[in-house]
Amino acid sequence: MKKLKVGGLLEGSEISLGCWRIAKLSQNEATRLVAAALAEGIDFFDNADIYGGGACEEIFGRAVKELGARDSILIQTKCGIRSGYYDFSKEHILEAVDGSLKRMGVGTIDVLLLHRPDTLMEPEEVAEAFDRLENAGKVRYFGVSNHNPGQMRLLQKYCGQKLIANQLQLSLTNATMIDAGLNVNMLHDPALVRDGGVLEYCRLNGITIQAWSPLQYGVFEGTFMDNNEKFGPLNDKLRQYAEAKGVSKSAVAFAWLLRHPAKIQVIAGTTDAGRLKSLCAASGVSLNRQEWYDLYLSAGKKLP
Ligand SMILES: NC(=O)c1ccc[n+]([C@@H]2O[C@H](COP(=O)([O-])OP(=O)(O)OC[C@H]3O[C@@H](n4cnc5c(N)ncnc54)[C@H](OP(=O)(O)O)[C@@H]3O)[C@@H](O)[C@H]2O)c1
Repeated sequence: MKKLKVGGLLEGSEISLGCWRIAKLSQNEATRLVAAALAEGIDFFDNADIYGGGACEEIFGRAVKELGARDSILIQTKCGIRSGYYDFSKEHILEAVDGSLKRMGVGTIDVLLLHRPDTLMEPEEVAEAFDRLENAGKVRYFGVSNHNPGQMRLLQKYCGQKLIANQLQLSLTNATMIDAGLNVNMLHDPALVRDGGVLEYCRLNGITIQAWSPLQYGVFEGTFMDNNEKFGPLNDKLRQYAEAKGVSKSAVAFAWLLRHPAKIQVIAGTTDAGRLKSLCAASGVSLNRQEWYDLYLSAGKKLP
């Protein structure tokens, strides 16, 4: 498993295991999944206070304890989404972190992300919360999720800590940040800049983009894998490269993300230990420029 430096500061595996879906697993199954991740060289784990209503942090924390893995891994979690609203108030950030530490049974969170932009955010308050958490040794590094460049700049104006990551939805079928850069100045839809140029902003500022839902075409609609008939040509192309490179189709879909020079960290969401192993083979797959564009086009995209 290759490593990358998240935000240029924190070295972790280029594939991370996301814990959004683990609440449906038994504790034994979840512990086996985390053990499988460790065996594949994954040392970076993503969670959030709201996943499974807190259950995902609890289950993950117990797995880490059982495996005695705390000192050899990096734990990232998120806060700021509440039931029916977003909350970046100082009080909420502080209490959310205390809740996450307690549920996971750890003393420190390696990376805390603000989950989704809160338009009522007062950046001075966020800065105070970050300082308190850093000084208390509760959080080592900070970042955001689903933020645009203006929102990151606003936060960065007040926060002394560098934002090291921005977690965004990104996959072969949901790549608007890439589409916009390939269709500059055109009149059609793919030219629309939906995120304020977040890909270029993150590259310019050394902020690691973490790709969430790397195999999904929507949020809850499902995966584009598994011969989804909506994505026939893409699945055919993935199969062709999978056979040529001796890996699974989903490993090729991961490799497509990892090939980007932005040095994207991919957050895998599988709950299946066997599948996770096959996905991790992506770290050893190289795609040349032509293969990368070939896959992009097979997802129904066009070049101008
Ligand atoms: N920041 C945010 O707003 C945000 C939002 C959503 C997610 N996330 C993070 O991103 C992580 C990944 O998201 P995700 O779970 O949507 O990721 P994903 O890897 O795109 O999707 C995983 C899901 O696809 C299924 N799947 C179906 N066919 C598959 C195949 N051939 N290979 C692999 N999986 C297949 C998996 O089922 P099996 O479990 O049976 O393998 C699992 O249910 C989450 O765990 C979370 O940490 C962040």
